[in-house]
Amino acid sequence: MFRIISSIDQASQEFKGNQEFNTNLAAEYNSRLDSVMYRLDDLYVKRHIERGRLLVRERIDLLLDPGSPFLEFSTLAAWDQYENTFPAAGIITGIGKIHDRLVVVIANDSTVKGGTYVKETIKKHLRALEIAFENKLPAVYLVDSGGIFLPEQANLFADKEHFGRIFYLQARLSAAGIPQIAAVLGSCTAGGAYIPAMSDETIMVRNQGTIFLAGPPLVKAATGEDITAEELGGGFVHTTISGVADHLADDDRQALEIIRNIFETYPRKNYAAPVRSFAEPLYDIRDLYGIIQSNDKFVTNPREIIARIADGSEFHEFKAGYATTLITGFATIMGYPVGILANNGILFSESALKGTHFIEICNQRNIPMIFLQNITGFMVGKEYEHKGIAKDGAKMVNAVANSTVPRITLITGGSYGAGNYAMSGRGYSPNFLFCWPNAKISVMGGAQASHVLASVKGKDSGTGKSSHSLLEQYERESSVYFSASRIWDDGIIDPLNTRKVLALCLAAVAGNRKREFKPGIYRM
Ligand code: COA
Repeated sequence: MFRIISSIDQASQEFKGNQEFNTNLAAEYNSRLDSVMYRLDDLYVKRHIERGRLLVRERIDLLLDPGSPFLEFSTLAAWDQYENTFPAAGIITGIGKIHDRLVVVIANDSTVKGGTYVKETIKKHLRALEIAFENKLPAVYLVDSGGIFLPEQANLFADKEHFGRIFYLQARLSAAGIPQIAAVLGSCTAGGAYIPAMSDETIMVRNQGTIFLAGPPLVKAATGEDITAEELGGGFVHTTISGVADHLADDDRQALEIIRNIFETYPRKNYAAPVRSFAEPLYDIRDLYGIIQSNDKFVTNPREIIARIADGSEFHEFKAGYATTLITGFATIMGYPVGILANNGILFSESALKGTHFIEICNQRNIPMIFLQNITGFMVGKEYEHKGIAKDGAKMVNAVANSTVPRITLITGGSYGAGNYAMSGRGYSPNFLFCWPNAKISVMGGAQASHVLASVKGKDSGTGKSSHSLLEQYERESSVYFSASRIWDDGIIDPLNTRKVLALCLAAVAGNRKREFKPGIYRM
């Protein structure tokens, strides 16, 4: 295969400027991550430890194979919302390995408002179930939650993507033959009771886990009955009288061990090994900090990125000399074959046609696709409209939407306008979507938006906002943290982890079966 020869100059001002910029971005990202992940000064965390309970991340560590990676999703969900009182939205989700088999983990953090659910908690939980469903990965629930965060009930209870959807998806997973195991390590109240009740096997911790539709105070109010939580729905009751749970554990550690034992009894099916042995890239991934452009007027050269994530820096490029603003080609990442589509400037008609052609090839060969998205949009102007750029963009959108092979999207820079769509944005249901800390996502840039609004409304933008405040709004809303907080993606990743994250995603999608690729009508 063809090897990419890197052409960067590490001594250049440009490289050094980028390096400083991206190192600072990574430091800011890592400090935000730490503030959410490790909250040892938090009173609720202290209280939890005093109660002799394990913290949610300790539980996950004990659940997964020692030393194996955990690909965590949306750690910065709810960031900068609710006055930052819902770190990680009170729930940890991700993919890890149990006895070398990939599983999706969904674990409540009861140190965050009793593990209750706000909008982002539900969205994160549903997204993790979707990942389990699409990739046919078993799901493990570590339950410790007070259910719905009651003051917000109007945003949480009755609509399609609200709390009840969790159990709907659990039923669908079950019917699809996807294993689901729950351990009740704390409270599991009201609707939440259906999480263990709808799982294949459920473990409860004695004198700690409880399952009931209504807790003692509500029972007292409703029927006058005086009863303790343990008598009403403790582990002993449910494993000996009601049959709501199946295994009784003495503590968290034993409960987690029982989950691991259950997985030993499953046939090893979904974890596909890499297709071939592989070489490391020829170039150091740390160079990426010097390569990612700090100034969005310049395009980051996608071949320099690929040279640092592809095995042996090998890239078999497709149509290298044609429509060069979209780079397409084949590589392997840690032994997994992929087709890569990477932006290298604005999308023209020709780039959209090349992309469509390449997507068809990947579908026909059953090769997963990686979209490296860094796109300001499609070309505008009379010449391009007359050539029919809209119908060519539509072909690419059609091909992406109807693709049946797995897709992984990484936003490596800008994500603006219809370019977000054609390059497999969130609305196109890629199997995974991650962003680098420098990513920016919005319908268009702030300057363009304020120009458009000013011209359609006459001098005044009509929004009552000065163009300055509109610029500020766009700046804030296009931040990658704004996206991560609202779970428009599966999380921000440090560029230095890109190869590892992509390989884990490729392992996770390996269980997907090929379905027939049938695009809709291409407007010619
Ligand atoms: N809605 C809103 N807030 C809730 C809540 C709920 N369902 N459950 C707990 N909280 C809040 C508490 O008010 C408290 O907030 P504060 O410290 O800011 O005042 C915080 O979460 C921690 O709760 P606390 O009771 O101190 O923690 P705990 O670990 O001792 O107990 C629970 C946790 C979940 C067992 C207990 O709070 C509880 O039983 N909650 C009610 C559960 C319920 O009935 N849910 C039905 C919803 S469908």
